[in-house]
Amino acid sequence: MKRIDGHIETLAQYTSTIDKGVTRIVYTEEDKKAKAYLKKLMEELSLAIHEDQIGNIFGVWEGSAPNLPQVWVGSHSDAPTNGGKFDGVVGLIAALESIRILKSQGFQPVCDIVVVIFAAEEPTRFGIGCIGSRALLGMIKESDFDSWVDETNRTLREVLLENNKDPVRVLDESLKPDRIKSFVELHIEQAVVLEREKAVIGLVDVIAAPTEIQLVIHGEQRHAGSTPMDLRKDPVPAASEVVLLVEELTKQNSTSVGTVGKMTIKPGTSNVIAEKVELSIDIRDINKEIKDSIVLKMKQEVSKIMAKRGLFYNWEVKGDDFPSKMDEANLQVIQQITERLELPYKVMPSGAYHDALIMSRKVRTNLIFVPSKEGISHAPEEFTSTEEITSGIKVLTEFLKELSYS
Ligand code: GLV
Ligand code: MN
Ligand code: MN
Repeated sequence: MKRIDGHIETLAQYTSTIDKGVTRIVYTEEDKKAKAYLKKLMEELSLAIHEDQIGNIFGVWEGSAPNLPQVWVGSHSDAPTNGGKFDGVVGLIAALESIRILKSQGFQPVCDIVVVIFAAEEPTRFGIGCIGSRALLGMIKESDFDSWVDETNRTLREVLLENNKDPVRVLDESLKPDRIKSFVELHIEQAVVLEREKAVIGLVDVIAAPTEIQLVIHGEQRHAGSTPMDLRKDPVPAASEVVLLVEELTKQNSTSVGTVGKMTIKPGTSNVIAEKVELSIDIRDINKEIKDSIVLKMKQEVSKIMAKRGLFYNWEVKGDDFPSKMDEANLQVIQQITERLELPYKVMPSGAYHDALIMSRKVRTNLIFVPSKEGISHAPEEFTSTEEITSGIKVLTEFLKELSYS
């Protein structure tokens, strides 16, 4: 118990916002320190460590038949701006703790067990999530290295080069999915379902997927005092209409959610009519058809708003993922384990996405939840108790044992 708390508290110190939650943006010093700490834990477990060119880190526990497809387990180490201590980190600590328990039991896996720390699960830096898992499965294009830019206008390619990574080799390195027998991720729920149901374990059957859009509305930068209202091309009221549209269209379905999480007004001065507004739009659903129809309707309505106001705009779809079902047979196995351990559980969807969403495109994948206090996540108040994490670890340990034994 103390060990788990210690790891979580230590990792929480690797943040660029010491006084407000955990901010650990990929490829920054904080993320490197967190990864170094996790690598040290891997070393202590005698795992063979290697790292790929996008920054995913792997710790391999060699099985007695290392040529067999491997069992993979892991999550991510990055955290969004002012996020919490548990998102991603819990899955990594749980994976390492499970291996420690199995080793202490004298267990020897038949196939390899690989702990993976994914790079860049959060979209905070480049506006698109799960870059590490996408790269690993060969699901990014050569042009993405130049079109994905951070706030300082540095491309993913430039950032990788600055970090002594070779972007040219990223796609060559992508893994053959048949090398992986199964992938499992343990994660905090980030919602309130388990707490309400008094359950300790969430068995995820489907993961909702986002469409991530970057909308730039171009206006005309003018004087706020001397420009009459009827002569303005102000992008800010137009952006406000878009924000309300996102809320209105997604509220029409109980399974849909829509968020404008980032809005930048440029130049951003009180007495200047803005030159442009940049907005992020994140639309999600567990049903692809519903999500696509919302996005289509939104695109049509945005076009009407801009025509009415005489404004130019750019609508760029940065990511368009589809929801994914988790592996049904292994879901049954995890359910049986949970019942055997007499832990109350709930089969449920995931509203948040995870590397498990991407991995499930090509690999048998499962996702296990532990509760989040009051459902709070992506906020400094994020909390999961050590007892709850320990319950998750028990399930994960048994699952890894079953998977890697044949
Ligand atoms: C992942 O962090 C998400 O935004 O769902
Ligand atoms: Mn997150
Ligand atoms: Mn996460």
